[in-house]
Order: sequence, then structure tokens, then C-alpha cells
Amino acid sequence: MKMFASDNNSGVHPEIIKHLTMEAERHDFPYGEDSTSEKAKEIIKKELGKDVDIYFVTTGTAANIIGLSGLLQPYEAAVAASTTHINVDECNSLERFNGSKILTVDSEHGKITPDSVKSVLGNIGDAHSSQPKVICISNLTETGTVYTKEEIKALADFAHENDMYLHVDGARIANALEVTNTSLKEMIGDTGVDLFSFGGTKNGLMMGEAIVCLNPNFKRSHKYSTKQGMQLISKMRYVSVQYIPYLTDNLWLKNAKAANSAGRYLNEELSKMDGIEVIDYSNANILFVKMPFETIEKLQKELYFYVTDEEQGIIRLITSFDMDKSDIEGLVDLIKKCHK
Ligand SMILES: Cc1ncc(COP(=O)(O)O)c(C=O)c1O
Repeated sequence: MKMFASDNNSGVHPEIIKHLTMEAERHDFPYGEDSTSEKAKEIIKKELGKDVDIYFVTTGTAANIIGLSGLLQPYEAAVAASTTHINVDECNSLERFNGSKILTVDSEHGKITPDSVKSVLGNIGDAHSSQPKVICISNLTETGTVYTKEEIKALADFAHENDMYLHVDGARIANALEVTNTSLKEMIGDTGVDLFSFGGTKNGLMMGEAIVCLNPNFKRSHKYSTKQGMQLISKMRYVSVQYIPYLTDNLWLKNAKAANSAGRYLNEELSKMDGIEVIDYSNANILFVKMPFETIEKLQKELYFYVTDEEQGIIRLITSFDMDKSDIEGLVDLIKKCHK
């Protein structure tokens, strides 16, 4: 049975493996000075503009932290929802790597607004306080909800009016684009986003994320911090090559559609079951599901997943790009068996 704890449980798309194998037969320059990395960057630039600066890395945490380090002084802070990956799942990496604090603000279902950011702007100019400088959001959010391009533009405008920047953690950006029927250019290129972590690992790559800096004032800021962050990979082309098939013929959007469709089917089936309620769900691939404790206990004996709220009995299920109807039917049958 496939796994539903995370889309990190998924495999690697065969097209990606094919390109990795093709790359294995060639020699080229190291440290990202190779023709493959150039080609992958050109493809991203076609979507986001020729002036963006791109660095390939191997983890989403590296993309976020090295990316932010290019925009933040150690006395400055990132502003984020308390639920964001950067706040709860990156082991204080921003604090350690850059010295910068994370100021958390209230969110609704993982989403923040200009109004919520205002709550931490009171001490701007006070030498005793860390200075809020970058607003960080994730799309999809960690609670499975999605920001629209209009909401992102409102946050970017607000950031710029307040001499701040906007960072989007796009570990699941393809899922967000699919569910909102929006292009990358519309959601990231045209909204005023300054920094973008372009994720791929959760959506069919073996390991591949990219730091994309859209703000020309920070051009080259990441060149040296990528090395200091130990992500200037000698055989960089094996990371970057994955983005070529990924972004060709819409493979990334097809993968996201498969993952999201599996999520939608799972939602449909669970919604038919008495005593089980799907909450915090935006038609993408992350579902939070409330179910009786006895059902959770029985299910835990057969399946690995996260219980995100032990008091209320809420679990998280994530569908992946390599799942089809039969995978979901297998899970639904198992839940039915445990729910009797
Ligand atoms: C929203 C978000 N950002 C970033 C990441 C990347 O994490 P990692 O450093 O494990 O690749 C994840 C992975 O779970 C995530 O969910």
C-alpha cells in the first residue's frame, strides 16, 4: 500500500530518472557552471523573466534559509504564520544560519493577511527590537489551504509599502497553481514576490528545489551564501537536470493534477462516511480529517500517518503525484474497516 503521511513518501517520476541517467553518461563543468544547469535556468527564466537569479539546492529548508539570508541582515526578522514550515519544521535554521528571528503572527487556516502582519510592525526603528523585513508565506500552506494570486499581490504590495519583501515557500507550488488554475507567471512573476523557493521534491523529483530571487536589488546576493550554506553542489547538474523534464510538456502540472485529483477523490469518499469529517481542505492534496479516537488507534496499527491534534482526533493525510483511484480506494477500504 502507498503511504499517506507525506508527499515525501512518494517515488520519483520515470522521466526524471531517464534524464538523470542520460546526464550520467556525460562530462561537464562542476559547481553549476555546466550547460545543463544553464538550460534549466533558461526554462525557469522563460516563466519568470530573464532577470531572475536562480540557485539549485537539495532541500526545501536550504532554499528557504539560504534564500532569506540574501534578503535579511542578522538584526532583521522574517514574519510568518506560526504554522509555517520555516517556523516549526526547520529547527531554528534561520536563527542559526543568519541570526535573524522569526516573528509569528496569527493566521486563519495557515493563511496571513496584511492586517495580521501589522501586529508586529510596532517596533520598526527601535534599536532594541528585531526589525521585520520579509513576510514569509507557503503556498500551498502547511494546513492544505491555498493563497490566490490576488491575496499574494495584496501581501507583496503591503510589504513594499512598508519597506519589506515577500517570500513564497513553494514546496507545493504546483499543487497551488493547479487548484487555482493560475500560471506561475501570474502567481509569482506578476504579483511582486521578491523571493521564491521553487519546490520539486514533493512532486516527482528525486531531490530538487531552487532559490529564485526576483528582486533585482538582490542579484547575486545568493551566490556566496549558497556556498556558505554548503549547497554549492559539485555535481550540480544532477540537481538542475531534473527541472528540464519537470518543466517540459507540463509534467510538473500533470503531477500536481494527479496528486490533487487523488486528494479530491479521497475527500469525496471520506465525506460519505458517518462520524468522519474532512476539515482544512482546499481541493488540493493535503487533508486534515477528524475521526473517532478508536478509529485512529486501529488505523495506526496498519498505516503510518501524523496525528496533528490528539485532543480533537485530527489526522493529516497527503496524496502524491504517483497515486491513482485504486490507491485511494485501498486507503478508503482500510479506513472503513477501522471505523466499524
Ligand atoms: C511547506 C514546506 N516547505 C519546505 C519543505 C521542505 O523541507 P525539506 O527541507 O525537508 O526538504 C517542506 C517539507 O515538508 C514543506 O512542507
